[in-house]
Amino acid sequence: MRSTLRKVLITGGAGFIGSELVRQGVAKGYGIVVVDKLTYAGDLERLASVKGKFILHRIDIANAKALNLIFTRHRIDRIIHAAAETHVDRSILDVTPFIQTNVIGTQNLINLARRHNVKKFLHVSTDEIYGESVKGRFKETDSLRPNNPYAATKASAEMLVRAAIRTYQLPAIIIRPANNYGPWQYPEKFIPVIILKILRGEKIPVYGKGKQIREWLHVSDCAKAIDTILHQGKIGETYNIGSYFERNNLTTARTILKELGRDDRSIQFVQDRPGHDFRYSVDCTKIRKLGWRPLLTFTQGIRQTIFWNLNHKQWLEQKLTHLQDYWKKVYHEAQRA
Ligand SMILES: NC(=O)c1ccc[n+]([C@@H]2O[C@H](COP(=O)([O-])OP(=O)(O)OC[C@H]3O[C@@H](n4cnc5c(N)ncnc54)[C@H](O)[C@@H]3O)[C@@H](O)[C@H]2O)c1
Repeated sequence: MRSTLRKVLITGGAGFIGSELVRQGVAKGYGIVVVDKLTYAGDLERLASVKGKFILHRIDIANAKALNLIFTRHRIDRIIHAAAETHVDRSILDVTPFIQTNVIGTQNLINLARRHNVKKFLHVSTDEIYGESVKGRFKETDSLRPNNPYAATKASAEMLVRAAIRTYQLPAIIIRPANNYGPWQYPEKFIPVIILKILRGEKIPVYGKGKQIREWLHVSDCAKAIDTILHQGKIGETYNIGSYFERNNLTTARTILKELGRDDRSIQFVQDRPGHDFRYSVDCTKIRKLGWRPLLTFTQGIRQTIFWNLNHKQWLEQKLTHLQDYWKKVYHEAQRA
């Protein structure tokens, strides 16, 4: 029987950002349904602190039939769509699962949101759809120029959402966050890789010369921004979310090394990622007008993240079995030492 209570559907709720959305949503008393395929990147341990306080369905969003059951069983009136294949290096090795999940999965959600009269559909995209910025910050009105297969599938998904807004008046909003970091991030992403490698006494792989610039946003601030948009965001609009805190990768690596009492000798420069964007940077005037601001500085956020990882060494180590083979494929021999 269909529940009469209105619920927020969070796709990818067992992922890094999705789980933060679930934890914050539970604290606010939202009725939450999580749909997650539990790929290598999904982990219910991230939700252990809120176990029993949300409903979980292990479903692949690319499976339209299975997904439809969620909408017939629950009265979903808002969707935060955060499920995705997210790792750029993996998309370079094989883009197929990215097309399945990011493109087909998104279209399935659009179809069901329309059929079941969902009131608000938040599509979590990424700043990577803009491509690289040499100077200045991208505004929401700038064009999409994705440079890697992951970003291309995210841009494709956005285009489908945009088309549904215009063609069918889908009540959707597109959100483009900058690079996130924080607790529970899978250790294939830059910051947890560095921490894990330091903890294991291994060399830290830094692409190219480490000059690429990233804008770092703490995951708790990102989730708060998404919640702000859930309540105050205007249907049909797009919002960037960033911190205005930019750092090149080498400086970020050095900051973490210093915090953990190590020096540059632990750094190993590896062959650059093909198509590697030099810089991402987004203009956040629009979301700031809704009253949102990041609460954590990078210094506070990175210390908290290092501390969290030190206290969850076992969780990080568990991921190693899966990562070892993958690392062999991705990181090439050191070009420069
Ligand atoms: N992490 C970042 O720095 C960042 C920055 C900007 C945007 N984003 C976007 O935010 C969203 C969340 O990113 P994240 O870092 O939490 O990703 P993540 O890789 O940590 O988690 C993704 C989650 O989606 C689930 N998933 C994958 N394929 C699925 C499928 N077919 N059906 C159902 N569930 C599936 C996984 O099991 C996992 O729980 C993504 O849309 C990503 O593109 C992330």
